[in-house]
Amino acid sequence: MNKILSNGVKMPMIGLGTFLVADGKSAKETVLHALNVGYRHIDTAQMYKNEESVGEAIKESKIPRSEIFITTKQRGHSTVSKMRAQFEESLAKLQTDYVDLYLIHWPNQNKLINQQTWAFFETLYLEKKVKAIGVSNFTRSHLTDLFETATIKPMVNQVELHPGLSQVPLKAYLDSEGIAIESYGPLMKGGVFEGIWGETLGDIAKKYNASIPQIVFAWGLRNGVIMIPKSVTPERIEENFKAKDIQLSQEDVSLINDLNRGKRVYTDPDNSPWGPYID
Ligand SMILES: NC(=O)c1ccc[n+]([C@@H]2O[C@H](COP(=O)([O-])OP(=O)(O)OC[C@H]3O[C@@H](n4cnc5c(N)ncnc54)[C@H](OP(=O)(O)O)[C@@H]3O)[C@@H](O)[C@H]2O)c1
Repeated sequence: MNKILSNGVKMPMIGLGTFLVADGKSAKETVLHALNVGYRHIDTAQMYKNEESVGEAIKESKIPRSEIFITTKQRGHSTVSKMRAQFEESLAKLQTDYVDLYLIHWPNQNKLINQQTWAFFETLYLEKKVKAIGVSNFTRSHLTDLFETATIKPMVNQVELHPGLSQVPLKAYLDSEGIAIESYGPLMKGGVFEGIWGETLGDIAKKYNASIPQIVFAWGLRNGVIMIPKSVTPERIEENFKAKDIQLSQEDVSLINDLNRGKRVYTDPDNSPWGPYID
């Protein structure tokens, strides 16, 4: 199941998240297991400090590079020369000569800085060092500021999105701009097992003989959202991948849509602590 990005690039709609997966044995074994299970999309970031193990696992899997979609994220806004050095370091660690999707990890509160960073991303894209470029944690206003100077629109925006925060207005805006939406934190740091979420999702899960996480991922996919659940547990990696085979009824999708409470479990991008430069 692929999402076709605005520039025609195919992005697998389910991938493996790797935030807090420790570099070394853990990350390597986790990514290798996911690739053996059938995942063809790995989400990492310079900030996660595990790109080296991701690269080793991909190499060891012997799966052709062209069959694996790698996303990584720029650590922080900085000078062009420093950002280029960071990008080259990512390529070296990942043992590749391109990444499929490169994201600005967090917006800066200064729009000029976001615009400068984006101009560098556009250069990488035109140099064909990245198949697609995008942003993460960008609100609508961060995007409209970016559009003042952008010559290429982001192809993806990766944001916190789960049953407690469905991002309805942002998604409608991104749809209208042809920007794909990608979810992070789908399990709400455990919140999907609790309160109104646990109750409703638990009832739906029983109907499909599935787990609550599987229902959450199936819901996201059904709504056209790219999902990147993270797990280091082999059985969960397998369980999560099977969510793509669950066909939720429209009635159940609506029940989950109704669980939106605007509840953030990660940092609000408009109130983040990032200074003028975060690196
Ligand atoms: N762009 C950003 O700013 C940003 C921010 C946060 C995350 N992300 C990306 O999004 C990915 C996913 O988000 P996330 O890591 O925050 O959280 P998540 O995928 O919602 O949840 C991960 C947690 O849920 C557990 N888990 C996974 N599958 C499970 C299952 N089937 N049953 C029960 N528990 C399960 C994992 O435990 P075990 O690992 O112990 O199995 C882990 O503790 C990240 O890994 C990262 O790639 C991006």
